[in-house]
Amino acid sequence: MIKAKGKVDDLVKLTTEEVKNFNLSGHQTVKSAAGIAHTRWATHGPPCARNSHPHVSSADHEFVVVHNGTITNFRALREFLKKEGETFESETDTEVIPKLCKFLYSRLPEPIPFPQLVCEVVKQLEGAYALLIKSSVYPGELVACRRGSPLILGMKYGVQAATPQTPNTPSTPLTPRFQGTCVGGPQYYENGQMPITNNNSQQGLELFLASEASAVVEHTKQVIYLEDNDIVHMHGGQYTVYNWSDVDSASVEVRRTIQTLTMEVSQIMKGGYNHYMEKEIFEQAETVSQTLQGRVKVTPLSPMKYAVPGIDPYLMPRVRLGGLVDHIPTIRRSRRLIFVGCGTSYHAAMCTRQTMEELTDIPVVLEIASDLLDRRCPIFRDDTVFFVSQSGETADTLRALDYAKASGALCIGVTNTVGSAIARQTHCGIHINAGAEIGVASTKAYTSQIAAITMIALVLSEDTISKRVRRDEIIDGLCQLADCVRGALKLNDQIREMSEELKDEQSLLVFGRGRNYATAMEAALKVKEVSYMHSEGINAGEMKHGPLALVDDKLPIVVVATQDTMHNKMQGVIQQLMARSARLIIVCNEEDEEMVDMVGGRYPLIQVPRVDEALQPVVNIIPLQLLSYHLTLLRGYNVDQPRNLAKSVTVTEE
Ligand code: F6R
Repeated sequence: MIKAKGKVDDLVKLTTEEVKNFNLSGHQTVKSAAGIAHTRWATHGPPCARNSHPHVSSADHEFVVVHNGTITNFRALREFLKKEGETFESETDTEVIPKLCKFLYSRLPEPIPFPQLVCEVVKQLEGAYALLIKSSVYPGELVACRRGSPLILGMKYGVQAATPQTPNTPSTPLTPRFQGTCVGGPQYYENGQMPITNNNSQQGLELFLASEASAVVEHTKQVIYLEDNDIVHMHGGQYTVYNWSDVDSASVEVRRTIQTLTMEVSQIMKGGYNHYMEKEIFEQAETVSQTLQGRVKVTPLSPMKYAVPGIDPYLMPRVRLGGLVDHIPTIRRSRRLIFVGCGTSYHAAMCTRQTMEELTDIPVVLEIASDLLDRRCPIFRDDTVFFVSQSGETADTLRALDYAKASGALCIGVTNTVGSAIARQTHCGIHINAGAEIGVASTKAYTSQIAAITMIALVLSEDTISKRVRRDEIIDGLCQLADCVRGALKLNDQIREMSEELKDEQSLLVFGRGRNYATAMEAALKVKEVSYMHSEGINAGEMKHGPLALVDDKLPIVVVATQDTMHNKMQGVIQQLMARSARLIIVCNEEDEEMVDMVGGRYPLIQVPRVDEALQPVVNIIPLQLLSYHLTLLRGYNVDQPRNLAKSVTVTEE
C-alpha cells in the first residue's frame, strides 16, 4: 500500500522508490489479480498520507477499502468499534468500513461469500458511498458497491496472456497496472498465469471500476453504470452484479445493460493546447454547434423564406428536442418552472431565466441545490423542475432531485454526461452534447447549457402565435452563434495583454444587468476559482445600494454593456462610474459607436460580435473566460488544477 500527499506524480515517484526497495524491476511481476487506487477529496481530516485511501482493518490488512462519498453516521460507528477494542489511525469517515468488515467477519459462525459480508457492512452505513474492497481472507476477489456516489464497471475482452516469467524473477507473475485515475482493479488473471475467461467468452477479461467514464475510456468503451445498492463481485475471472433491497434486506443477482461510451479518447487529451481549460474555451464555436445539431434547423432564415407551398410555415417546427417531446404539454401546464443547479450550472439557468419567462409566460424560479435542501423549499406536483449539471453527478443536485421527485413534480435533466446519475434518475431531459469537459473550471458546458435551455424555451413556446416573431429572432441568433463565438475568441491577444495589467491586483469587480448579471457572476467565479484573485459579480441595478462605496481610481471594474434592452441603463451606470474616476474595462459590441464616443478612449473596450440578446451572454463570457485563464497563468498557478477543487463534487455536507 503506497500513499502520498500532493499530485499523482508524487505518488508515481514514491511508487518507483518502493519498487526499488522491494527489489522489483519493470520486467518482474507480482502475483495479483486486482489492485485498487484512489485520489482523495478531503472531507474529514486534512490532506495527508495518513488520511489517504486505502484504509485498512488493521496492520495485517485483512480488509482494504477505498471510498468516494461521505459516511454520515461514522462517529457512532467509530465509538462502537472503539468500545470493541479497535483503534483508528486516521481522521476519516472511511476507516470505519474496513474495521466493520473485520468486526462482522470475526463474529460469523461460519464463512459467508465476500459480497454477502459487504452487504451486511453497507447496511450499517448511512450517507453516500462508492466502495472498492479487497481482503486477504478472500484472496483474488474484489467487491465494489455504491449508493449515492457514481461507479462504473468497464470490461475489456481479448486481453493477452501474461508474459511468461523469466527464470530469475520472483514467483510473482504479473506487474500490477494502476492506470490513470481508475479507482478499480485493472488486471484479471487466474493465478497470475493466464488470462481469466468469463462465463460467456473464452477471451481474457480485464475489468475496470471508476467513478467516471473518462478514467476508463482509453482502455474500453464497454461499461455498466451501476445502480444504487448494486454490489459487484469479481472472482474467478468473471463478475456478478447483485442488488440488495432496503425493504427486505435480500440481495439478488441482477442483469445490467452494457453500454458503449460515445466519448472518444481525443476528448480527454489536450490536443495541441497547453491546458484543458484553454482547449475547452477554444472549442466553444464547435461545442455550441454540437448542442444545436439535429435540433435546430441551422439556416439563418425566417420561416417564410423556406415555406413549402400549402403548408403554414409556422407549423414547421424549427427546434425539436427528442428527449422532451412527450412531456411538452405537461411542462406547459406547470404552475412554476424551477431550475436547480450549483456554481456555473446555476449561472446558466440564471442567464436563461428571462428568455424562459418571456417565451413561456410561466414563472421561473432559480434554486441553488444546497439552499433548496437547506430550506426544504416547497415543491408541488404541478411544478416542473429542471436539474442543470455538467457532470450529472453533483451530490447536492442529486439530493435535490430525490427531494423534488418525492413531491411528485416532473423532473427534467439538462446534463452533459450520458449515463450520469441525473440523466438516469430524471423523468426525461436533454444532453447538451458539449463533449467531455476535463478542465475543473467549467467553460464550454456553460455556453452549451445556455444554448440548450434556450432551445427548451423555444420548444415550449412553439404553439404561441404571439411569440412567433420573437422565437424566430432567437432561432436565427442560434444559427449565428458559432460564428459570433469564433469572433469573440479572436480577442485572445488583447485579453492576454490586458491580463498583464491586471495580474497583480487584489480584486476585480464585474458589473452586469439583466441576462448579463449571470455573465458578471460567472466571470467572477472563473476569475476567483482559477486565478485566486478576489472577484465579485454585481448586479449593476444594485450599484447604488452599496457597491458604489468600493469604487475608486484603483479597483478594476469590468462592466458588461452590450446592446440589449439594458443598454441605456448600463450607459447610465458607466457614466456614474466615470464620474467617480473608476478604473473601467468595458465589454461592448463591435459596432457600438455610442459607447466609443462616450468613453472617448479613456478606458479599454472589449468589443464582441453582436447576436440576439437572448444569446449575447454566450459571446460575452468568452473574453472573460480568457481573462481568467491568462490571469491564472501570469500569476503562476496551474489553471487545470485549482487548489481545493474537484471536477465533480460528488460529496455533500453531512
Ligand atoms: C465552476 C464549476 C462549478 C460547477 C459546479 C456544478 O467552474 O465548474 O461551479 O459548475 O460544481 O457542477 P455540475 O455542473 O457538474 O453539476
